Amino acid sequence: QKASASITRFPLIPVRGVPLMSYIANNWDSIWAFRPDPSDLLIATYPKAGTTWTQEIVDLLLHNGDAEACKRAPTPVRSPFLEICSPPPIPSGLDLLKEMGPPRVIKTHLPFQLVPPGFWENKCKAIYVARNAKDNLVSYYYFDCMNLTQPEPGPWEGYIHKFMRGELSWGSWYDHVKDYWVEREKRNILYLFYEDMKENPRREVERIMRYLDLSVSDEVINRIVELTSFKNMKENPMANYSCIPTPVFDQSISPFMRKGEVGDWTNHFTPEQSKIFDEDYEQQMKEVNIPFRTLI
Ligand code: A3P
Repeated sequence: QKASASITRFPLIPVRGVPLMSYIANNWDSIWAFRPDPSDLLIATYPKAGTTWTQEIVDLLLHNGDAEACKRAPTPVRSPFLEICSPPPIPSGLDLLKEMGPPRVIKTHLPFQLVPPGFWENKCKAIYVARNAKDNLVSYYYFDCMNLTQPEPGPWEGYIHKFMRGELSWGSWYDHVKDYWVEREKRNILYLFYEDMKENPRREVERIMRYLDLSVSDEVINRIVELTSFKNMKENPMANYSCIPTPVFDQSISPFMRKGEVGDWTNHFTPEQSKIFDEDYEQQMKEVNIPFRTLI
């Protein structure tokens, strides 16, 4: 219970214009100075785009589909979250990385310009996962309700506008997806879509396998697809974030593995909210043509 007193709704502090949780902002210099090994892999996402799913697929590919090996520890221990730092009991990402030898699978939500430059200098591989804005927003709303380290989401209507203005933790969804999109070829970033993973998980698992220069059998691919289904990950205590104590993630408010679908936004946006959102989206996304799908 001591933890609950200290872990509650951190304010956001801008780092080069990007709102980040105060603990991250206050530790910014050491995060920016992090030097990865060239063998490290970065998994980058805007929050709630399918990070945990991708981390699980990658871990299974690296362990040739061995389910037991991938139950050695919970997701954030197997694949540390680079910038996260908060009061105990959660160890910081940098502390975990220090204890772990390369090659490591490192998660980040940092927008492209805040990723420590060592990743690109060392030509590390990077996988980016993007999810359509409306589903991403719905998922983030529920997450902010249950994750007591994040600022209060407030009412749904106002939350939509905070998202559109880029005021949520880790900043603007629009800038996030656009900046990695623009950099993807130059930096050899594998740019994936949550909707493609839902539509044809096998195809996307194979795409990740090829990008990582791995080769696993068809049978192992099938097993990985099965083990990383929404249902199986929801039941897997090493993948469903039940490792995070209730004062931090209150899964009775909303489970971490909530719905795992494409198009859940249709259950939340009113027609009027959808219209306002779409008009703003056109403006914010006009200079790029990223093939997002809001339904499959
Ligand atoms: P929902 O809130 O829409 O259910 P992240 O890992 O980036 O925080 O993303 C979490 C979102 O991905 C949640 O979305 C979660 O349910 C979904 N998710 C996690 N594992 C999944 C899986 N195996 N298949 C489909 N969706 C998954």
